[in-house]
Amino acid sequence: MLLAAAAVLWLPLAACMQPHSGAVTGSVQPIADGSATGIGGAVASSEANATVAGSGILERGGNAVDAAVAVGFALAVTYPAAGNLGGGGFMLYRTPSGISFFLDFREIAPTAARADMYLDANGIPDAAASTRGWRAAGVPGSVIGLYQAHQKWGRLPWTDLLKPAIHLAEQGFHITARQADSLNRQHLAFSQDPMAARVMIPSDQRSWSEGDRLVQVELGATLRAIAESGEDAMRKGPIVERTVAASIAGGGVLSAADFANYEPVVRPVHRIEWNGLALLTATPPSSGAVFLHQVLSTLEGQPLAEWGFRDARTIQLIGEATAAAFRDRNRYLGDPAGFDFQWELLLDPAYLAERRRSLRPEHYTPPAADLPAPPIESTETTHFSVVDANGGAVAVTTTLNGSYGAKVMAPDGFFLNNEMDDFAAQPGVANQFGLVQGRYNAIAAGRRPLSSMSPVLVLRDGAVDAVFGSPGGPTILTTVLQVLLNRYVFGLDPQAAVRAPRFHRQDLPPVLRFEAGRLDRHANQALDEWGQPLSRTPSIGDVNAIFRDLEAGEWRAVADPRRSGLGLVLPLRKN
Ligand code: GLY
Repeated sequence: MLLAAAAVLWLPLAACMQPHSGAVTGSVQPIADGSATGIGGAVASSEANATVAGSGILERGGNAVDAAVAVGFALAVTYPAAGNLGGGGFMLYRTPSGISFFLDFREIAPTAARADMYLDANGIPDAAASTRGWRAAGVPGSVIGLYQAHQKWGRLPWTDLLKPAIHLAEQGFHITARQADSLNRQHLAFSQDPMAARVMIPSDQRSWSEGDRLVQVELGATLRAIAESGEDAMRKGPIVERTVAASIAGGGVLSAADFANYEPVVRPVHRIEWNGLALLTATPPSSGAVFLHQVLSTLEGQPLAEWGFRDARTIQLIGEATAAAFRDRNRYLGDPAGFDFQWELLLDPAYLAERRRSLRPEHYTPPAADLPAPPIESTETTHFSVVDANGGAVAVTTTLNGSYGAKVMAPDGFFLNNEMDDFAAQPGVANQFGLVQGRYNAIAAGRRPLSSMSPVLVLRDGAVDAVFGSPGGPTILTTVLQVLLNRYVFGLDPQAAVRAPRFHRQDLPPVLRFEAGRLDRHANQALDEWGQPLSRTPSIGDVNAIFRDLEAGEWRAVADPRRSGLGLVLPLRKN
C-alpha cells in the first residue's frame, strides 16, 4: 500500500524531470504586489530523487516545511555521504506571512565529552580520533529537528513525508556515476565497519557502477519506525539502544540519556540590510550571520560592480575581507550557550568602519601567526532549498561533517557524524579544514560545535527573492558570499550566479584557493605580484538555490552544475 502510494505520488513529477542538473522553470504567476502568494513552488537539492520527493509533497498541497522534511529524509537514503539521520543541520524558515525562524538541530557533544578527549598522551590533537570511528560522533539532531519543524510549521501528515524515503530505501534506487565513484572511494573505510560493509559494499565485493541499485533494508525499517513514532524513535527504544551499544563497542561515548535529552533550539534570525535587500541569516553556532554581515559591510562603497567579478582587485579585496572575518570567526565564535562574549560586538559599526578604512585593493595582508600545514578539505555537507505556493521558504543545510561522517554505521542502517571535529580539539591547532579556532569553540558536554553552515534567505520589497546555501566546510561562507555578490552586485542571472568561478580565502592557511582553470591569466599574475599565495582546487561548493525572476515572473531553481543535483519548479497552482 505504502509503496504504491509513493510511486503514484511521484509519477507526474518524475515525468517532467530533467536528466541533468541545471534550472528547470515552470510558468508561474507574476508578482504584482510584492507577495509570493499564488505562485508555484520550487525545490533544489543535490540529488534528483530527493528533489522529486519534495516536489511531490508540494504537488499534494504540502508547504515548504513539509517538502523540506521529505527532501531531508530522502537525502538520508540517496545521498548518504551527507544526507543523514545521524547528523545535524540548520533550517531557516520564513512563513507566508513573513515571520522568520532559525531552527538549530546541530549535533551536541555527548555528556561524557571532555575538553581533552582528542589529545594524545603528549597533549597533541589526534586528528584520526576526532574524524573516524564512534568516538568522533556528536549526538545527532536531524530526526528530532525535522520532526519538530513539522510539528511547529508543517501541514501534511508526518507519515506522508517519510513515504518517498522509505520507498527509496526499501526498493532501492539506481546510483549515478558520481555516487558509484563516491562509494568506491570509501571501499576501504566501509570494509572496516561491519554494517557499512554490509550495506555499502556489493555482496560480491566488486566495485559499484553507474546504474546499480542501492537497497538499504535496515534504513528502510528505521524510517518506518520514525514514520510511526516520530522523534521518539530517536529518543528511546531499540534504535537508540542498538546505536548506543555499537558506540560503546566501538570506543564511543554516546549514551541513551544523550539521545533522550537532545533538543533543537529556535534561535534568532539575523537580518542584514544590504543593497536595498534584506538578508536573513543564521546566528551562532552558525558563523553565517557574523561572517556575511562583516564582509558585506567591509566591502561597502568599493567599486566591485565597475571592476567585475573576474578582476584581480575584486578578488583581492574580497579575499582580504573574508580573511579578516575568518580571524574573528575563529577567535570569538562558538555555541552561545555559556558564552561570555556578545557576538553582536563583532558587528559594531565603528569596528567595521575601521576595517573598511584599512582595506586596500592591490594589497595582500599576511596572517599574524605561523601557518599550520593545510589539511585536506572535506566538502561533504549538503544544502537544499524550497519555496511553496504561498510564499513560504525554507533553506536547510545538513551534514555528517566529513564524507559519510565518522564512517561508522549504526545497526539500523544510518551513518554517524564526525561533528566533534568542528570543535577546537586544542585551541590554536588546525582542524580538518585548516581552521585554527579559539577557546569559545572548545569541547564541553552539551555544547554545539561552531559551524560554517549558512542557509540564507534574501528578501526584496518584503518578498522572498532567493533561497540558497552550500556545503564545503569553511568554503560554505565564501561560496554563499559569492553567490550573493554575483546575483546582486554583478547582476548575473540565476544560473550564471551559481555557475561563476569561485575562490576561497580564510585567515589560516593564507592561500587564496581558486577553481582550476577559472582564474584568468591577468588576475593570476596580478594577485601573484601583490604577494597573495595562490593554489588551485578542483571545485568549491554545491549551491542549490531558488531565485525569483522578476522579469519572467517565475521561480528559478538552480542546482549547481559542479555536482549532479536537480532543481524543479512547479507550474502555477491556484489556491
Ligand atoms: N560540518 C560542517 C559545518 O558545520 O560547518
